[in-house]
Amino acid sequence: MSIKPVVAPSSADVFKGDIFQGKVLFCTGGGSGICKAMTEAIMRHGANATIVGRKLDRLTEAAIGLSQATGQTCVAARADVRQPQQLKEAVAMTIERFGRIDFVICGAAGNFLASIDGMSENAFRTVVEIDTLGTFNTVKATLPYVRASRGSYIHVSSTLHYKGTPYQAHVSAAKAGVDAFSAVLALEEGPKGVRSNVIAPGAIADTEGMSRLSNQMSRSINSPLPYPLGRAGEVQDVASAAVFLFSHAASYITGQVLAVDGGYEHVRASQ
Ligand code: HXC
Repeated sequence: MSIKPVVAPSSADVFKGDIFQGKVLFCTGGGSGICKAMTEAIMRHGANATIVGRKLDRLTEAAIGLSQATGQTCVAARADVRQPQQLKEAVAMTIERFGRIDFVICGAAGNFLASIDGMSENAFRTVVEIDTLGTFNTVKATLPYVRASRGSYIHVSSTLHYKGTPYQAHVSAAKAGVDAFSAVLALEEGPKGVRSNVIAPGAIADTEGMSRLSNQMSRSINSPLPYPLGRAGEVQDVASAAVFLFSHAASYITGQVLAVDGGYEHVRASQ
């Protein structure tokens, strides 16, 4: 029996519109894809936001669009997460503009398909530096403000490293590090009122990450067959998970990894 694909519901259908009123989000990688959708959803519940990335043109366009779509304020800050000083300047700009930081999404990531044999040392290092070191740098730059607001972190990881995924050694190593880092952050900062969780998206349609993966994977995402829930993931699915994890409904949840993959990893595990 086939399950009919459905469109992912919006978090606005479930959570009140003002749950993040007065809150401020700082999101790396927020100029596009999954992180932009997460930012939009959080803004739709009342937050203002800073989105951070390397391409200021794209970020500025995204910030204008997010502000118009949500009625909140989104500003763009150019920073490479591998550069701590640039992140500190983005944080300073956020504090100057909004006065606080409540929520941080560590979402900036690099990805390309390459075998271990065919990958240079610099290629491997580049992805680990963006994903793992970039997460560390983002947390270091924001932590004093997140402590002050008794706020919360979400790290965007993946499910690629659970069972091993060919041509993804760099990303797998980097994201395993992110998962471990978040658990330590949760333990160290929990007593100070700070939560840290990971969202691990599966294959999410219409994202840059997916478009960079193989034709075979791109084809399979159009098929409902491998997904227990009968459809491929959408950015809105990940965004709704972020709204939940930042909300008070998740106030006793920290140090966790929430896979948003339609159950796909369980299918892979049973094969
Ligand atoms: C092999 C590659 C390569 C490729 C780059 N390199 N692309 N090696 N195959 N396709 C190598 C380069 O040759 C170089 O090594 C090193 O990586 C650094 O490349 P640069 O271009 O100099 O670095 P930089 O400008 O910093 O760009 C890094 C990047 C970036 C990772 C390549 O372009 C990027 O991040 N793009 C992807 C953004 C993205 O898709 N984000 C979403 C991720 S989603 P040498 O030795 O030559 O110096 C995700 C989850 C997906 O990760 C889950 C799907 C199921």
